[in-house]
Amino acid sequence: MSRLKELRKVVDAEINRMENPDKRTGAVNHLYGVSLAATMIAKKRGLDPELAAMAAMLHDLHAYKSGSYDDHAHLGAALAREILGQLGLTDDAETDMICSAVYHHDDKLAVDSPMDEVLKDADVIHHCMNDLSKAVKNKEKARFDSLCREFGM
Ligand SMILES: [Fe+2]
Ligand SMILES: [Fe+2]
Repeated sequence: MSRLKELRKVVDAEINRMENPDKRTGAVNHLYGVSLAATMIAKKRGLDPELAAMAAMLHDLHAYKSGSYDDHAHLGAALAREILGQLGLTDDAETDMICSAVYHHDDKLAVDSPMDEVLKDADVIHHCMNDLSKAVKNKEKARFDSLCREFGM
């Protein structure tokens, strides 16, 4: 089984514990949507698409588990480290790269490491393109415009 598939089994199990079916569907939709976007962006930028997809699967898990978005990126990085530590699929450098991306993913106005940026951009792609009839949020506009230029959209 691939590392991504193994991690997805653990994330799926966590999501399946959510009681509200609509929130559960939303969580699956978002984590898998961001994961696909992260794979594409990482591949385009010459970064590891598997690690990008793994970071995406973990990025909002703390918020879904706890039901709160308060400090969810930082708390989510600690949760990601715990899950990756238990799975033992990644070496220390890979674990650090994934956890850094989760930690920084809510800092959309700052520019961080290349993999951090992949996750932020993938999150924005899903927020902006999951339903094109919805307006792009002001705080995501600059990042979305720059992604549209990068991808020729
Ligand atoms: Fe988030
Ligand atoms: Fe997200």
